[in-house]
Amino acid sequence: MTTAQIREAYLSYFESKGCKRMPSSSLIPDDPSLLLTSAGMVQFKPYFLQQKQLEEPYVGTTTVQKCVRTNDIDIIGTTGRHLSFFEMLGNFSFGKYFKREMCTMALDFSVNVLGLPLEKLYFTVFEDDDETIQIWKDLGVPDDHISRLGEDDNFWRAGPTGPCGPCSELYYDQGPEFGCGSPDCAPGCDCDRFLEYWNCVFTQFDGQEDGSLVELPKKNIDTGMGLERIAAILQGVQTNYETDVLRSLIAVGERLAGATYGEDATVDLSLRIMADHSRAVTFMIADGILPGNEGRGYVLRRLLRRAIMKAHLIGVEGHFLNEYVDEIVRLMGDVYPEIVENRELERKLIMAEEDRFGATLAHGQAYLEQELATLSGTTLSGTTAFTLHDTYGFPVEITSEIVGERGIQVDMDAFEREMEAQRERARSAGAKDAEAAWSTYGGVYADILNEVGPTAFVGYQHTEAPATVVALVRDGQRVDVLEAGEKGDIFLDTTPFYAEMGGEVGDTGRIVDGQVHAYVEDTTAPEKGLVRHSVKVEGGRIATDDTVEAIVDARRRASIERNHTATHILHAALRQVLGDHVRQAGSYVGPDRLRFDYTHFEAMMPEQIAEVERVANDRIMEAVPTTIYETTLDEARANGVTALFGEKYDTDVRVVEAGEFSRELCGGCHVNNTAEIGFLKITSESSVGSNTRRIEAVTSYGALAYVDKMEAELRETASMLKVPLFDVSERTASNLKSMKELQQAAKRGKEAVSDDGINELLSMAQQAPAGYPVIIAKTPAQEAGGQRHLWDVVRARMAAPGALVIAGENDGKAVLMAAATDEAVAKGFDAGQIIKAMGPAIGGGGGGKPTMAQAGGKNPAGIEDALEIARNMVL
Ligand code: ALA
Repeated sequence: MTTAQIREAYLSYFESKGCKRMPSSSLIPDDPSLLLTSAGMVQFKPYFLQQKQLEEPYVGTTTVQKCVRTNDIDIIGTTGRHLSFFEMLGNFSFGKYFKREMCTMALDFSVNVLGLPLEKLYFTVFEDDDETIQIWKDLGVPDDHISRLGEDDNFWRAGPTGPCGPCSELYYDQGPEFGCGSPDCAPGCDCDRFLEYWNCVFTQFDGQEDGSLVELPKKNIDTGMGLERIAAILQGVQTNYETDVLRSLIAVGERLAGATYGEDATVDLSLRIMADHSRAVTFMIADGILPGNEGRGYVLRRLLRRAIMKAHLIGVEGHFLNEYVDEIVRLMGDVYPEIVENRELERKLIMAEEDRFGATLAHGQAYLEQELATLSGTTLSGTTAFTLHDTYGFPVEITSEIVGERGIQVDMDAFEREMEAQRERARSAGAKDAEAAWSTYGGVYADILNEVGPTAFVGYQHTEAPATVVALVRDGQRVDVLEAGEKGDIFLDTTPFYAEMGGEVGDTGRIVDGQVHAYVEDTTAPEKGLVRHSVKVEGGRIATDDTVEAIVDARRRASIERNHTATHILHAALRQVLGDHVRQAGSYVGPDRLRFDYTHFEAMMPEQIAEVERVANDRIMEAVPTTIYETTLDEARANGVTALFGEKYDTDVRVVEAGEFSRELCGGCHVNNTAEIGFLKITSESSVGSNTRRIEAVTSYGALAYVDKMEAELRETASMLKVPLFDVSERTASNLKSMKELQQAAKRGKEAVSDDGINELLSMAQQAPAGYPVIIAKTPAQEAGGQRHLWDVVRARMAAPGALVIAGENDGKAVLMAAATDEAVAKGFDAGQIIKAMGPAIGGGGGGKPTMAQAGGKNPAGIEDALEIARNMVL
């Protein structure tokens, strides 16, 4: 069976047993306790905890889940079993079927669908789980194929906390020829004989922070079968890498390296790592992870760099990982459309990272080799590891791995200290950790939401609405009344106020009722669906149950709407001009301006910026009506609506369209027609990280204000230059040219010495006893270059070939020069020696050749002494 056939057989089998087939969830888990999705059950945690229910008549769910596990990254490739990215086939029951049903189906599927012979199957059970042992026996499994194992093997947890439980695992016996030969060899042994292919977890507990286990309200099932592993068994190959999909990826490496898999262990290791890591990287990028220095971004970068490094070892350099992307898309794109949708981004991001790391890799390796050559002992210092990390981009784990191969360890404590010192420097340089806003809110908002339910939002249609006060908060505490002069939060049953979300700022406005007047300074959502109006009560007193009028500042809101729709148009224009790899990475939509962050790897050219602006303004001036409607996520995706990168959506979504040009999932406020935007002006384009750029722009009144300001600036400049407005640049250019000429003339003036000066110098020539003319004198302020120029003039006009020693003051410093013709040198003059001797007198030093030497010093008062030294030496 091919990988695709096994995947489909599994899902249809469990579908036929009443499980709902659901899609794989993102590799970014909806769960702060996990970095990456590492098992099929991750997306179902709320079901295990009974926070969410499965609709009737389903008895459970079944999925194929993309997973990334990197805890044992350094052994990936060295064994045939470990992969960083793999697909997990799973089925899950939330209080419906349990042990007996599960074991029955597992055996049935293994034997009757996959065709594995019962005599080759082995079963392990958690040490005290007699019930499951009995079940396997009842199903006809011989006693000697069932064994008990302890917590390490047969108790499963997804992370430090959350749903967990004892498990029973199914093993396939590959035969004694795969084994270690030990008499104790049995399922659970580290050797390759017994291959674990299916883990059935009886999820009964919720693991707590303190390590204790709380019994879950219902008994659940969580299972996972490694798709690549079962494929290896069914395809009769020795390792995961020889199964159909991975073997095709190995073949990409064979082509790139001009090598054949299976001939050389080092080459094989590189080919395996390249195949495995490139797949993980492609899927991670498709789910919205960007290479970075922290968290999942770091995991991604580490995988990328490890693959690049291993490729280098077998002579593959430059841009090569994109060839894997193409093959992965070809092999897996039908099951995972996100890798197809994001193909351009995957390719471009990978290439940018290859460029970045490729540029320092060789230098880093040379540096490491040099350090290793002088190393005594078996510990590489933390400072060296840090330099490799900081200067050459080597993740410390990669450094450890390289030196580990030679029996050397990295001093990790010292490395961590260096890292901490660097973080400290970054902090004191003003960088602040972005804290999730949620963490600052207490439980009071969750209580309000539980009590009064979500706020009804009517702000898409109205900017004013009657409402009832359902709760009040002051200083984080529930209160019944807010008095005049007090600040606090008002919660209404219904509101036209938009709460800050998706980059769009919250509304401001008023909440009034007769004498009562509260100014709404901001609107936020401390809990999903709960709108919080942060107010200052300016008159009267406001109490729970009051009926009020909620009035949004409509003029401000209209500006926000213009900027929001403009953001969508800008997004679409960027994709049209720069390419499909452009994805929104963040945004800010305020009344006065907008900001849009997007994935791109280099600064935009001025012409590209102009082009984006032109495309966006075309759409605006076409006066396209916007259409906004609700649909399902699947429907929207099928229609090609742009979903934000890395964003989680509910199954019901809202689509905002500005014609065919821009269609996005969005919950924000928008204009009815693009013409309302007036026009858009890009005010800046900059970098906000290695793979992200930022555009700032203004529209409508904001754009007018911006243009007015530029015009005022230009008018003022024109009036200073006394030219018409549109001659400013021409005049400025000609002024700059004249200024440069004047500066050069001034410099030449300083270098030149007047004829009188030269004549005076020449008149000071004396005959040295050795028989050549020499001038030793103080000269006016001059730079070193001017002095040399002076020598050129003087030597030509001296009566006979001679020498010159001069000293002058320039900008508070002393400058010396001694120079001589070859004739004078032949008669014993040595400029270098003379300058060396003079140096100390002026508090400095210098030197040169016998024909030319110069020096500078900070003590011009010593000039006369210095000249005296020269006279004593020469005359
Ligand atoms: N969640 C279980 C595992 O990942 C099935 O092994």
